[in-house]
Amino acid sequence: MNICVVGTGYVGLVTGAVFADLGNDVICVDNVKEKIDMLNSGIMPIYEPGLKELVNHNMEDGRLIFSTDLNDGVMRSEVIFIAVGTPPKENGETDLSHVQHVARGIARSIERYKIIVNKSTVPVGTGDMVREIIERNKRRDVDFDVVSNPEFLREGSAIRDTLYPDRIIIGAPSQHVAMTLLELYASLERPMLITDVHSAEMIKYASNSFLAMKISFINAIANICEKAGADVTQVVKGMGYDKRIGSNFMNPGLGFGGSCFPKDVDSLIHIARKFGTKATLFESIVEINKYRAQHFINLIKEKMDPMAGKQFGILGLAFKPNTDDIREAKSLEIIKLLLAEKAIIKAYDPAAMENCKKIFPDIEYCKSSYDAAEGSDALLIVTEWNEFKLLNMEKIIAVMKKPVIFDGRNIYRPERKKRLGFEYYSIGR
Ligand code: UDX
Repeated sequence: MNICVVGTGYVGLVTGAVFADLGNDVICVDNVKEKIDMLNSGIMPIYEPGLKELVNHNMEDGRLIFSTDLNDGVMRSEVIFIAVGTPPKENGETDLSHVQHVARGIARSIERYKIIVNKSTVPVGTGDMVREIIERNKRRDVDFDVVSNPEFLREGSAIRDTLYPDRIIIGAPSQHVAMTLLELYASLERPMLITDVHSAEMIKYASNSFLAMKISFINAIANICEKAGADVTQVVKGMGYDKRIGSNFMNPGLGFGGSCFPKDVDSLIHIARKFGTKATLFESIVEINKYRAQHFINLIKEKMDPMAGKQFGILGLAFKPNTDDIREAKSLEIIKLLLAEKAIIKAYDPAAMENCKKIFPDIEYCKSSYDAAEGSDALLIVTEWNEFKLLNMEKIIAVMKKPVIFDGRNIYRPERKKRLGFEYYSIGR
């Protein structure tokens, strides 16, 4: 099939590369020329394991091309995916200006029947909006359909998630239109739900908000465990045996960050209010999450008072492991709060330091975890990268000023760390 993917961010680039790998002819379009130039010379604008190999291999085989020319992309293709950014506005509402811009571009170029697929995370009703924009601006008397096909990939495992999704959601105006998308995904042999456009749009927000709710829920339980002397790890285990609950996505810690959960829950709050329904539950998810960094700092303050002049080694800056993404990362809030306490910071992350330097150019960045630990009064685990789990703790203890660990992601076993001679604090244990 001839496919055009508009937007070469996480979703667009990975989707385009995977569709090409499945044997389709794919043109990925982006209006940022530097990004297209980079991609054309084999450089990936994002860090994602396996992506470079997948993109380059499909480019060499001629199934994947990159261009800034939306008109050409539309003309070549039967199916056009919109995978542009939908950032939040100040008030939490989703900014749809990029989607609207692309819809107008498609309208100008459409010259025969096409299916336009919304892959960007968009509020319910956006499919109708895209339809209206194209209808209003099209230059030729052609028919088209708008489909919602939300994406559930996670950064760091984006290719695997696209090849083996738990489910594929196709929200189409008719069975006939859905069949084209079904055909496109058939070779993945994954569960598919064909539904209407509005429901498909809601599935995405409901899913992300539910996952965010699980995280905030267990963090609220962890708060009680800390006061009551219970161990949240045991609580999750005990809850998880109940098949209705499960223990996935219940790791307590510093809360959720990234480009999706925070903005999607905010957007759902906005959608609920717009329709005049109560958003109390969603508001609580956000409120609990917002307080995680301060909660962590309060714990540190309690044990390390005064913090001014003390040195903290931060391990992990990315919003989660296996990415260089620091959008809404908890590390940023923690650094800000530490700086407000006049603490000294030495930070290390395997991938995200360059991005963090753009926001905090004046803190010290280190070559390794050991370097960050050197001379520090305490070590803070902020992102649970695998390499932090297997550190040589004798070496760490030898270089630290004081052997203190604040583990914001519960990556270590308390009794082991204590046996090694650390003063060890974690979340909800
Ligand atoms: C998420 C969704 O998982 C994905 O389906 C959607 O398409 C986009 O948003 P992503 O933001 O890449 O993906 O990361 P994810 O792995 O879901 O983690 C999100 C945040 O939650 C991270 O900050 C992570 O540290 C945190 N988290 C996750 C927890 O604090 N506890 C958990 O148990 C799981």
